[in-house]
Amino acid sequence: MQNSIEFDGHIFALNAGDSSYLMGLAKSGEGKKYLGHIGFVKRVSRPSGADALRTSEYSFISEGKPGDKCTFMDGFPFEYPAGGVGDFRENALEIENEAGCTAAELVYVSHRVYDGKEKLAGLPATFGDSDKVKTLEITLTDEVLSLDVILMYSIFEERNVVVRSAKLFNRGEHALYIRKALSACLEFDGRDKELITLPGSWARERYIDRQQLGFGRHIVGSKRGISSHQDHPFIAVLDRSTTQESGELVAMNFVYSGCFMACAEVTQHNMCRMLMGLGTDTFKWKLESGAEFTTPEVVVVRSSNGLDEMTHDLHELYRDHLIRSPYLHKKRPILINNWEATYFNFNEEKLLDIAWEAKKNGIEMLVMDDGWFGVRDSDNCSLGDWKVDRRKLPDGVDGLCRKVNEIGLEMGIWFEPEMISPDSDLYRAHPDWALQIPGREPQLCRTQFVLDITRKEVRDYVYESVATVLRSSNIRYVKWDMNRPLTDLGSSGLPADRQGEITHRYMLAVYELQERLLGEFPELLLENCTSGGGRFDPGMLFYSPQFWCSDDTDAMERLYIQEGTMLLYPLSTMGAHVSDCPNHIVGRTTDFEVRGMVALAGTFGYELDITRISDDDRAMISDQVAMYHKYNDLVREGDYYRIASARENGSYDCWEVVSKDKTEVLVTFIRQRAYAATRPPKIRLKALSPERTYTLDDGRSFYGDTLMNLGMVTDKLWGDNKGKLYHFTSNM
Ligand code: DGJ
Repeated sequence: MQNSIEFDGHIFALNAGDSSYLMGLAKSGEGKKYLGHIGFVKRVSRPSGADALRTSEYSFISEGKPGDKCTFMDGFPFEYPAGGVGDFRENALEIENEAGCTAAELVYVSHRVYDGKEKLAGLPATFGDSDKVKTLEITLTDEVLSLDVILMYSIFEERNVVVRSAKLFNRGEHALYIRKALSACLEFDGRDKELITLPGSWARERYIDRQQLGFGRHIVGSKRGISSHQDHPFIAVLDRSTTQESGELVAMNFVYSGCFMACAEVTQHNMCRMLMGLGTDTFKWKLESGAEFTTPEVVVVRSSNGLDEMTHDLHELYRDHLIRSPYLHKKRPILINNWEATYFNFNEEKLLDIAWEAKKNGIEMLVMDDGWFGVRDSDNCSLGDWKVDRRKLPDGVDGLCRKVNEIGLEMGIWFEPEMISPDSDLYRAHPDWALQIPGREPQLCRTQFVLDITRKEVRDYVYESVATVLRSSNIRYVKWDMNRPLTDLGSSGLPADRQGEITHRYMLAVYELQERLLGEFPELLLENCTSGGGRFDPGMLFYSPQFWCSDDTDAMERLYIQEGTMLLYPLSTMGAHVSDCPNHIVGRTTDFEVRGMVALAGTFGYELDITRISDDDRAMISDQVAMYHKYNDLVREGDYYRIASARENGSYDCWEVVSKDKTEVLVTFIRQRAYAATRPPKIRLKALSPERTYTLDDGRSFYGDTLMNLGMVTDKLWGDNKGKLYHFTSNM
């Protein structure tokens, strides 16, 4: 179906994929036009305005009675609701004027439609060619504040997606203060709904949580200055009957990596208002006369075919319209990272031993993790002193890099550029470079402070520290880490009335630094990391095609973490390694072979001392390397489907990746727990060609419809935490 953006003088319809996003104008007796949300629904022909917005129910609109305005303000489904004038539901906008009063009333002024999509200055955002993307901008205004709000909507090819952001422009003479400016708001019938969020903790990121949506406000959000391990910038509202494969849902995912808030509120009229945008707790932005402010964008996605369709739309959107890296469609080098192998206790000799052994087994890159600079023998010191530690690396990073290259491996390196240790030369020289509130001792976390990169001179120092190392050696990969939340929100670079801007300015600074880095080193493979997956979000994927998924490398724990991650993000973005056992986080021992199967779902690599693992385990590496080469094109480019979840059934996990042309399928089956007197599960595959024959590597053949409708009995696996890969090909 053709994509289109239409306006009939009354109703806006954005038609994309199988969906229609509908808004309408309601005109008051005073002649003001209010923009209301009609719905984001399965495609419809254009509805009639009065029915769609239910304006006949408000005498303020239908009979033009100004005396009934308050009822209207608290009931009308505003497309971008503002606080202070009688809408008592969660709102999207709060503006304080110089007199200290907070109110805004937005009315429609104009709109424009164009092909393509403009960049959001300084922010990560979706993009696309003008033949694939269409944009609608609607200008609303508040005459009293002289504030224009431009709502921006883009649609993409056949995706069931609308991306939204808002631009605020102060055309008045006085400064305004933005206390809240969210990016998206929807409203729909709130009865019998459920909510999915992805909460977690350090080393337990993005666990899928589904709960009933009752009356009132249900808020997820981060105040930590990072999108965080604890909350994820994702929220979905589903019908109770919605499953993996069927039923309706609407979801939001924020293209942003700092403080955020998302809310689903079931209101007095049994409606559900759903919102997402910048976190409000630490936020207050001064908008000078003539200045503008752009909110980061929210991806709004809907599905009539359950979670599978939502996942599919998000994966395609992110691969086609968000991730820019030249590595997106490339097989990433199989790396070995020395973190869990040595922690801080390494030197050149040790790293070269690892490199030699890695090379023999087909590994392609050595990544030197934390501990190569300053006098960093523990996490107590040296962040900020990005000078090589010659005790460990006598020939410097470039010397090590040369030797690693001579062995035949590429070289990667770790930085944590945003931080400063109190025990560092940098801190001794510039104690004011740490974020801090005058008169208060800043909080230590992992014995470190956060650098105030909102200040240009600090940002420049940070940039040069990283770039100098990269300029002097043949480094192909950087792991950009960040290991603590932001506290002590005070910056000596900002006046008192701008201190509320710190968390957002901080994020803009991170984005600027990464943009600059990729500008100077366009071939660099950048992997972001935030104590594992604390900033694994669409914002960071704009800069790096992969993100270290979690510090929990235990294969069984990873099943849940990766399930939550794959719900939204392409498998090619998921940093996943085979690590040592007993696992360093949970102490569990899982077969080396099964650890490999779980890591194959992501970017794949190793995180262990290859010189010290058992001969049996080491002997398996070359097979795993071969598997990676055999399957990675499929895993990286194919369509992912969830078949079963151990989190739900307490027994086994199963996922499938099928190639776009449906000729190749990889099914990963992990039996987490064996039960007596049960039979091996039968799994039903998805999205195959019904009439094709699919042949397993062992020669067994099945029709596509048999695999999908009747299913395939899995092998009997002996014991807990066992797994099996089923690889099918089809020639006709
Ligand atoms: C946290 C990361 O997630 C780990 O992989 C490792 O790089 C450490 N930081 C190093 O300090």
